[in-house]
Amino acid sequence: MKKARLAVIGTGGLAQSQHLPNIQRSGLAELAALCDLNPELLQSLGRKYQVAKTKTDYREVLADPDIDGVVIATREDTHVPLTIEALQAGKHVYVEKPLAETPEECSKVVEARQASGKCVIVGMNRRCAPAYVMARQLLLDNGGARNLFYRIADTYSFTWGHRFGKGNRMLHELCHIFDILRFFADSEVAEVYCRSQRDDDESILLTFHSGCTACILSSGYASYTIPKEHFEAVAEAGMLIVEEFVELRTFGLPHVPDLVKFFPGHSHPDHDRQHVQRFAEKGYPALLEFRSQLAAKKANTALPDAERNKLPLLNYAVDKGWQAAIDHFADIILNGAKQHAASEIDGLRASEITAAAIQSRQTRKPVSISSTATANPFPFTSFVRAIPT
Ligand SMILES: NC(=O)c1ccc[n+]([C@@H]2O[C@H](COP(=O)([O-])OP(=O)(O)OC[C@H]3O[C@@H](n4cnc5c(N)ncnc54)[C@H](O)[C@@H]3O)[C@@H](O)[C@H]2O)c1
Repeated sequence: MKKARLAVIGTGGLAQSQHLPNIQRSGLAELAALCDLNPELLQSLGRKYQVAKTKTDYREVLADPDIDGVVIATREDTHVPLTIEALQAGKHVYVEKPLAETPEECSKVVEARQASGKCVIVGMNRRCAPAYVMARQLLLDNGGARNLFYRIADTYSFTWGHRFGKGNRMLHELCHIFDILRFFADSEVAEVYCRSQRDDDESILLTFHSGCTACILSSGYASYTIPKEHFEAVAEAGMLIVEEFVELRTFGLPHVPDLVKFFPGHSHPDHDRQHVQRFAEKGYPALLEFRSQLAAKKANTALPDAERNKLPLLNYAVDKGWQAAIDHFADIILNGAKQHAASEIDGLRASEITAAAIQSRQTRKPVSISSTATANPFPFTSFVRAIPT
């Protein structure tokens, strides 16, 4: 079967943990080229994934007529220029989040995509997570979302946040949450109100044009032992809860009997797969067990560093939709499938909400988002578009 020929530009941490193995095991895509500034890394990944085309200059990848699409997984400051050049070279683009640091920068990609007629997916992959696909459909089938709550809490302030600096969790992490809450609410955000006592520890209230509200608890001061994400939604009547992508429960939704569904995890091929079966059989309790075991191992200073470093990356053991997003990208390229993953316009909207939340945090006042009062060219419930093949 014909497969979409993808090149990965930027083969660092995320590409190695997700995009490279996910493309390799996709039934719709193949890894046609690798590009990174680091030649040693390229050499070793080229061997590992048996990819002959390894380039340090992305322009060579963009000029290659055998490449259908590029996955841009470089750091944030290069997303806009690389995406625009790739579109101008006639490539479909999957670009990591955040699309850019400001809405103005994101708008450049919106223009470039329109001119190109190609597809852009922004890596806000939660829209493709199986638990969230089901949750959204349940909300739509039961009168729509009225009141949402999202907790995203981890150890950003003590660990991975050092790379981004204080106060920047909003830009690098919350873009995912602003996007997925728009997806669940099936509406645009009209107003943002953010209050916080210290950096990277915020309460944010979103009000949607539909009247739905969403409350976000975001903290970089939590613990490894608490699962990172928790979502609750009130529909027209009744509720649903999703625990860390692993378990979905409904309570009194009018058009569906109460249900409990477990979602198996998403494992890296280099790591063991024990958790996949445990999540599928036991759901959330298995995840709690797994996290506390792993936290205990990580805290075990008796373990040599080399051993500790071999421990699986827990954050990626739950299915946040990375594989499905790549498969969907390939399906769009190959078959002109209708896009449901986040587009460049969603990247722009997430950036507008981020900018408003940062402004609200500073001024301690609600901030309106005026641009979203204008109609989205891809309105929500029919939020799909056809890309010519
Ligand atoms: N969607 C998600 O769940 C998720 C998770 C983690 C990171 N991310 C995003 O993925 C992106 C990459 O993050 P990371 O942690 O992998 O970063 P990283 O620094 O580990 O990797 C980036 C790689 O890009 C390469 N690079 C930089 N400029 C280049 C260029 N011009 N041409 C070719 N290669 C170039 C670097 O050499 C490096 O290997 C970031 O935007 C981050 O926000 C997304």
